[in-house]
Amino acid sequence: MRSKRVLVTGGAGFIGCNTARHFAERNWHVSVLDDLSREGTDKNLEWLGQNTTFDFEKTDIRDQRAVESVFKDKEFDAVIHLAAQVAVTTSVTDPRTDFSINALGTFNLLEAVRRHCPEAVFLFASTNKVYGKIESATYDLMGKQYAYTNRPHGINEQEPLDFLSPYGCSKGAADQYTLDYARIYGIPAAAFRQSCIYGLRQFGVEDQGWLAWFAIASILGKDITIFGDGKQVRDVLHASDLVRAYEAAILNPDKIKGQAFNVGGGPANMLSLLELIEKLETRQGKKIDLKWDDWRPGDQRVYVSDIRKLETTLDWKPEISVDEGVDQLLEWVEQNRDMFAGIG
Ligand SMILES: NC(=O)c1ccc[n+]([C@@H]2O[C@H](COP(=O)([O-])OP(=O)(O)OC[C@H]3O[C@@H](n4cnc5c(N)ncnc54)[C@H](O)[C@@H]3O)[C@@H](O)[C@H]2O)c1
Repeated sequence: MRSKRVLVTGGAGFIGCNTARHFAERNWHVSVLDDLSREGTDKNLEWLGQNTTFDFEKTDIRDQRAVESVFKDKEFDAVIHLAAQVAVTTSVTDPRTDFSINALGTFNLLEAVRRHCPEAVFLFASTNKVYGKIESATYDLMGKQYAYTNRPHGINEQEPLDFLSPYGCSKGAADQYTLDYARIYGIPAAAFRQSCIYGLRQFGVEDQGWLAWFAIASILGKDITIFGDGKQVRDVLHASDLVRAYEAAILNPDKIKGQAFNVGGGPANMLSLLELIEKLETRQGKKIDLKWDDWRPGDQRVYVSDIRKLETTLDWKPEISVDEGVDQLLEWVEQNRDMFAGIG
């Protein structure tokens, strides 16, 4: 029997290389597609190569022909689509590039799946940004952090879509195309609306990947700027827990087909920016000097995912606590200080 084949787009990125490794370790035949535009991707590929076997396609997902050629004769059983322009800030300064990578790039992949392997499970890494500001969710300052007053379990999938920012629009369009390709063409496709994901191999920068960025900057003595009052709260999910959810979804196509899932750490795994700073200070035994700036447009005071749909559908739940995950992250950054020179 041939081994199962998975294509991981953005497979040299943070979530991508963790995903590729997970499947390779389970004897899947892994193809990694990436254009290596993100800083740190060369190091992730090198790391992946030390531990696992995989094919690498240096391809830009905006290039329809190049994408099609990756699919020829491959017969993928699953496509995990992670390649993206990932920063809201960049989407505002260069919305055309953001659109062409996130919306058109996803469309190119869906078309390739439709033409070459319509039975393949297609998972799209969507984002909680598709819900926009969520005006109907009320919040209050409770002690040191903001908390919802009318969403005790967090934000669920019934929340109306309200794309905010070019990034929200381009990912939101791709999210909707993904669900529609399940409806119209029967492709077992699903959108994972991810909250803040963190973990090893994350080359976080100020604009994206805040938890990893705070860890890296605190160890390297770089400036950390808090936008707003630092009491804003996010739920956070370790990448290895996310990858387990991807695997469970791929193994249960009938349960996930055509559906969106909010994916994050949920109410049990949330923290404020200042809480993270406190953790970093305690673990490193030093005070971290902070710089302060105004709230950025669209910054939410609180976002916490309601993950009950994913938990019940796939019998999945996050296993790595914030404390354990942050410890792991710090250890990784400490042990690899040289890798971060020039990042941020
Ligand atoms: N990390 C998070 O907290 C988070 C939250 C919500 C959604 N997501 C989504 O998850 C996915 C992965 O995010 P990540 O944190 O691993 O980011 P990442 O930047 O580490 O990975 C994205 C990868 O896509 C590649 N890429 C960019 N443009 C490309 C193009 N035109 N063609 C081919 N490859 C291209 C980059 O080189 C990079 O390796 C993205 O789709 C992102 O929008 C991430």
